[in-house]
Amino acid sequence: MKKIFTVLSMCCAMATLTVCSCSSSDDDESVNEKVALILPDGATVSRWTLDAQYLTKSLKSYGYDVQLFTASEDNEGAAKQVKQIEEAVKAGYQTIVITPVDYEKINESGILEANQDCNFICYDRMIMNNPAVDFYASCDPEKIGEMQAQFLLEKADGDMTIEYFAGPVTDKNAKKYFDSAYRLLSANKSLSVPSGKVAYEDVALASWSSDDAFAEMSARLEGTNVMPDLILAPNDNVAEGVIKALEARWLGINEFPVITGQDLTEAAIANILARKQTMSIYKEYEDLAETTAMIVSCFISGKPVVTGKTFNNGAKEVPAKYSNFTLVTIDNIGNYITDF
Ligand code: BGC
Repeated sequence: MKKIFTVLSMCCAMATLTVCSCSSSDDDESVNEKVALILPDGATVSRWTLDAQYLTKSLKSYGYDVQLFTASEDNEGAAKQVKQIEEAVKAGYQTIVITPVDYEKINESGILEANQDCNFICYDRMIMNNPAVDFYASCDPEKIGEMQAQFLLEKADGDMTIEYFAGPVTDKNAKKYFDSAYRLLSANKSLSVPSGKVAYEDVALASWSSDDAFAEMSARLEGTNVMPDLILAPNDNVAEGVIKALEARWLGINEFPVITGQDLTEAAIANILARKQTMSIYKEYEDLAETTAMIVSCFISGKPVVTGKTFNNGAKEVPAKYSNFTLVTIDNIGNYITDF
């Protein structure tokens, strides 16, 4: 099995051309038609159930056999994912789409580097510092953080208070979301932070579960009678935990801070309709899945992919393709409700 992998930068078009082919061995054609999907399960964040459905559907439309492996978004799940990748490689899967629960655990195992003839496509989350990653399909994480920050800044009016939250260190997206949002928000000198927590390490939650966000917000509210004006919540789970903590602290409240989110989960739809959460971000999951399937088909058939983008994962410039996302508020949520 040989992977031909060439990245050419075409200066005038500023495009990145990736030519990829997983196998040149004709006797093994059927093996090549199998794709393994290694995803988080939907127990903590429901979007992964949708991602699994759309990815499976899109890959099947190319005629590929798809095997889905899921794992919980915790330490156990992170260890399980390493085993799942090992299992998939052993079973002859040469094209593997991965959303890492903890990219460092995958790196520690050395499984990708030991199988560089396979195509490893990172979906939504990057596996950092790993030269064996072949492609990145996602929504631009920096632009998402910026959209959340810009939304809060538009609502900021004179001296206001803000509390910052971020996702766990195991997910590189979390720091990207936070850094890009904080860069814009911290430039507004009228915003003060009651808890004083502004460094990523201080606001990163232990996991993406809403329970962790609830516990952290509850702790920050202890001994204060003042509700913050703005909350940077990186996703809907965190927003949900923050909202529950506010409701526990002030029973029966009906005025909430401006609270951000992302994913447009069912809980977020309910919270936006109830005017508890102010915004979410709808990522075009179907498009992301179709893009990923198209990239997979290029890898398998050896056709070129023109991406125009790369993402530096610390080990190399990984060719990348980004899907669109949109801001959702009470004003346009009606356009999205039928999706659920
Ligand atoms: C994804 C978010 C998701 C979070 C928790 C991030 O990497 O980009 O969409 O809410 O993980 O699963």
